[in-house]
Amino acid sequence: MSTAATNSTVSAPFTITSKTPIQPTPRVTLSSLTINNVGTLRALNSAIFPVSYSDKYYTEVLESSMEDFNKLVYYADVPVGSITCRFESSPASSPSTSSPLKLHILTLNVLPAYRSQGLGAHLLSHVVEKAGEFPPPAPAPAAPKKGDAAKKAEVKKVEVKERETRKVESVFVHCQVGNEEGKKFYQRGGFEEAGVITNYYSKIEPRDALRLEKNIN
Ligand SMILES: CC(C)(COP(=O)(O)OP(=O)(O)OC[C@H]1O[C@@H](n2cnc3c(N)ncnc32)[C@H](O)[C@@H]1OP(=O)(O)O)[C@@H](O)C(=O)NCCC(=O)NCCS
Repeated sequence: MSTAATNSTVSAPFTITSKTPIQPTPRVTLSSLTINNVGTLRALNSAIFPVSYSDKYYTEVLESSMEDFNKLVYYADVPVGSITCRFESSPASSPSTSSPLKLHILTLNVLPAYRSQGLGAHLLSHVVEKAGEFPPPAPAPAAPKKGDAAKKAEVKKVEVKERETRKVESVFVHCQVGNEEGKKFYQRGGFEEAGVITNYYSKIEPRDALRLEKNIN
């Protein structure tokens, strides 16, 4: 597993779509998760979701390879929502290097006071767009310095092994059966129903989850 990201990347500001105009328009930005702000993610998840997430989840969301997909959204510099994802192979039972990748949205939330301004849709379209661009182009190899010749072959091998080369075929999410607003939210983003998973949740009722999926490649 790669180490935790330490630098926060802030996206370009986004224009909100509030029904009642707010002047001046608050600045909305997405920020990468880091060891310093992961506590904010924990607070948002605890405030909004009826289930709790493991320490393993909070470690994995910091993986540097997921920086484009795990974000906090700031509204006028206040953190008000988040999205977290992980890659899964398709089918899940055969994680071979040739099977297509799917991006699984694990959590998406916006604090109630900040809803219906397009922040949720902004987080969702951001990860769908980044999934469509995945894998990012390989970085240009650094010019070898004197004395580097012996190390060259070894460096190349690590790069090939570590760099993901598969495209993402779809983005999917699980939505509790009965959460009609949640379902509509994803359908507006182009997601379609892709089956029901019985007993997906163990601690909340109803236990079944609707899988919603958007094909992108
Ligand atoms: C789903 C959620 C992220 C949407 O955030 P948002 O910033 O309000 O999203 P947008 O402004 O882009 O879209 C708002 C629309 O989403 C829909 N919506 C989806 N889920 C909703 C919910 N739980 N409560 C209210 N509206 C919801 C509404 O139809 C709303 O339409 P409106 O603006 O006409 O009222 C937010 O409602 C939330 O955090 N909900 C609780 C967690 C959750 O259900 N996450 C999704 C798991 S399936």
